Amino acid sequence: MDTPTIGILGGYGGTGKHIVRLLLEYTDAHLVIAGRQILRARQFAKECNEQTGKERVCATYAHAADPESVMHAFDGAQLLIVASPTGRFTEETATAALEAGCDWLDIQYHTPKLAVLNRLAQRIEEAGRCFVTDAGLHPGLPALLVRYAASCLDVLEAANVSAVFNLQGGFPRTPSLYEFTRELMRSRCGVYRDGQWRFFSGLGAGETRQADFGFGFGMRLCAPVMLEEMQALPEMFPALRETGFYIAGFNWFVDWVVMPLLWLSGRVAPRLWVKPMAQLLYWGTRLYANPPYGAVVKLEACGWQDGRRQVLSLQLYHPDPYLFTAIAAVAGVLQYLRGHGRRAGLWLAGHLYNPQEALRDIQTMGVKMQQEISPIQGICPFCEE
Ligand SMILES: NC(=O)c1ccc[n+]([C@@H]2O[C@H](COP(=O)([O-])OP(=O)(O)OC[C@H]3O[C@@H](n4cnc5c(N)ncnc54)[C@H](OP(=O)(O)O)[C@@H]3O)[C@@H](O)[C@H]2O)c1
Repeated sequence: MDTPTIGILGGYGGTGKHIVRLLLEYTDAHLVIAGRQILRARQFAKECNEQTGKERVCATYAHAADPESVMHAFDGAQLLIVASPTGRFTEETATAALEAGCDWLDIQYHTPKLAVLNRLAQRIEEAGRCFVTDAGLHPGLPALLVRYAASCLDVLEAANVSAVFNLQGGFPRTPSLYEFTRELMRSRCGVYRDGQWRFFSGLGAGETRQADFGFGFGMRLCAPVMLEEMQALPEMFPALRETGFYIAGFNWFVDWVVMPLLWLSGRVAPRLWVKPMAQLLYWGTRLYANPPYGAVVKLEACGWQDGRRQVLSLQLYHPDPYLFTAIAAVAGVLQYLRGHGRRAGLWLAGHLYNPQEALRDIQTMGVKMQQEISPIQGICPFCEE
């Protein structure tokens, strides 16, 4: 294969920067980074080229809302990575990628983009393009980890994924804070129990569970959050009785003051409230930030292996949640570049990539992994059956 060219929209943002550095280290691709501030893009490209001693990164202008600029910026690129908080412009950006003949990978936490991409699914397939959405940490890893559990056990009965993350200094006040806040405002609580999806009103208080994250985070109370990638898992693994994604709190102020307000405002005039709520989240995570910092994603699963009931527990940890997100996304890009991670059509990242290989790559790029498989004596500690 010729040396590929990869475009990164938002390639000098919090996550985008890490994606660029990882691609420079782990691939030989040429990179085009773009965003609205050409000077910032040029400065970062210059730094990267000086560090590597090669001219592998170039910078240009693109605005996600302007398809012409996206097509122009990424003309000749094989893959476009969307690392900008521009989910609301998915129609414009995705159409431009299709017109430019680019494959696609996005990491945005923005549920409405999925409806837009689904509308384009047939066009994507007919064009033979590979569009991967919801890559990254969460979304991104939870379904992949459940598929990993299924690859380790003969029969998978229960698999829950929990996550905790804490940023040193709190959330930065960037446009992605608004996208994240809006997503929290619209989030739904749901888990799969006893063969059916159950959705809860409120903050899912009745369905919280404890998870021991280790790595200094210890035992945390987690609330269920519905992620699109979890929905198809019971169909993939018919013996699965229980699955869900749970997120731990940030600190007492955010958990007991900000989150209920976010939930309420999400149901009453969300557009009006998104900016004040983002400010509250910013101050809440900044003023009450306390260590440890970093992110842990934990899988707890049980099932049968060689006729014995087994429990599988796995934790992934990185001290920098942004770098962890970038590593999870780049693990997918590595499979894409090797060929088997590129299939025509629209995919959720958690459903497409080979989980064993992704976990190997994630560790190579600096994520710590702890895993334990042991026989169950009596009642399973995770699903309590
Ligand atoms: N899946 C996961 O686990 C996960 C985890 C973390 C973040 N995320 C997602 O990752 C995305 C990026 O987050 P971040 O925190 O890295 O963002 P960030 O630090 O705010 O960086 C945003 C980048 O996007 C560019 N950008 C913003 N608006 C743009 C537009 N209209 N057109 C073109 N470029 C634009 C910015 O440059 P200019 O402002 O100069 O244009 C900047 O380079 C967000 O969608 C966030 O939800 C996902």
